[in-house]
Amino acid sequence: MGNKKKKSRIDEEHGLMQKIVALCKRRGFIFQSSEIYGGLKSAYDYGPLGVELKRNVMNEWWRSMVHEREDVVGLDASIMMSSEVWKASGHLSGFSDPLVDCKICKARFRADKAPKVEVGTEVTFRQQGKTVKQKAERDYVCPECGSPVLSEERAFNLMFKTSIGPVESDDSVVYLRPETAQAMFVNFLNVQQTYRLRLPFGIAQQGKSFRNEITVEHFIFRSCEFEQMEMEFFCEPDQGEKWLEYWKNERFNWYVELGCKKENLRARPHEPDELAHYAAGCYDIEYQYPWGWDELEGVANRTDYDLAKHQEASGKKLTYFDPLKTNPQTGKQGLHYLPYVIEPAAGATRSVLMFLLDAYDEEPPSESRKEGRVVLRLHPRLAPIKVAVLPLVKKDAGLTEKARQIVKQFWKNSINAFYDEKDAIGRRYARQDEAGTPFCLTVDGQTKEDDTVTIRYRDDMRQERIDVATAVQTVVDKIRE
Ligand code: GAP
Repeated sequence: MGNKKKKSRIDEEHGLMQKIVALCKRRGFIFQSSEIYGGLKSAYDYGPLGVELKRNVMNEWWRSMVHEREDVVGLDASIMMSSEVWKASGHLSGFSDPLVDCKICKARFRADKAPKVEVGTEVTFRQQGKTVKQKAERDYVCPECGSPVLSEERAFNLMFKTSIGPVESDDSVVYLRPETAQAMFVNFLNVQQTYRLRLPFGIAQQGKSFRNEITVEHFIFRSCEFEQMEMEFFCEPDQGEKWLEYWKNERFNWYVELGCKKENLRARPHEPDELAHYAAGCYDIEYQYPWGWDELEGVANRTDYDLAKHQEASGKKLTYFDPLKTNPQTGKQGLHYLPYVIEPAAGATRSVLMFLLDAYDEEPPSESRKEGRVVLRLHPRLAPIKVAVLPLVKKDAGLTEKARQIVKQFWKNSINAFYDEKDAIGRRYARQDEAGTPFCLTVDGQTKEDDTVTIRYRDDMRQERIDVATAVQTVVDKIRE
């Protein structure tokens, strides 16, 4: 065996996650919030590369969910909504996690996330330097010290509370939304009637959501402020099952089309005891993170639960009128009813983490290359910078001027191009590989003679000569491929 220790899964997890966190900081993707004051745990800031990546993820979602469909429209609702919304939706009474304190080490944790044990088994833990044994009264123990000596479970509401106006009172209380979904339900008829929509149709929304998470974990995987991309698809009740399958497949394929490795994705149907009480079916689209399979997106059949709750609480009719259906009670033409809702609910910031993990690659040195490299194999559509334009030497004003002209051509065509003249060309390529830039154009002496440049491909480092006149079109075609 020797004394080489086999790496545990935890080491591996820490390895890849640490590399991603370090890369994000080093290259300006993601910073800890308020870092100079010691950092605010559970909130993150997106730097120059991160903001581009996040926007690209969200724009790709919007393109596939709204722009490229006849049956889905967009909405951008306010983050603060009337408290009545959250009362009716059940969030005020039920949107909580079971919170427990460890009486030994004082750790505070979520009961449903704690390590499992069998009730009645004897567990061993340390207390004031001594080893103690005690029977477990519940099916979990403290995640920090392993003790079964725990407080009662308390329901901890996840919503952030604040107030509107100068005087704090019960009437002024508002909550930051914990999901974007409810605005789609309360605006259902506004959107349907003003846009003259017929079932089935969807309303899509992206934006910030806030949850006072007890356990924030795995970098941006679970944070208190995050972004969601949700769509509520309203359909006839007996079509719910069909549309649930349809949207599960659509959403799964979206990740694959954007380069996520298929073997790292799965759509897991919820077990009956996992289902939310209002849901008639649900899939979790899961990704194989360094710590194991975990949720990326949920696709649920929410039935008519939300519309029914808001109709009841507001006293306003939220039914859809179908003039072509016959009312079974009266036999008359025309039927009012509440549609069912299929909801694909994705995390934008969680998707950013997933795409970074999936794209990260390290290549060792080889015969042809002395140094290894880190490369982010992001899909060109997601890449923060699409193309870097690099004059081979910065001392030649002719080359730098030409390179700047080329960059401007890309900007005119709405392509995010980046000009870089600092350091040797190899180091500049390495910087772009790490940033995930799929194409580099190098302007050199030959450019002055025949108006051609070298295009270098990130993934296989292949290089070829192309005409400057066709450079923009070449890159546009490759991004669209
Ligand atoms: N409207 C349904 C809903 O919000 P959810 O499963 O609670 O369902 C949907 O959230 C998605 O939002 C999750 O699959 C995840 O990607 C993302 N998400 C939820 N909580 C999050 C958090 N604390 N931090 C980051 N992303 C989160």
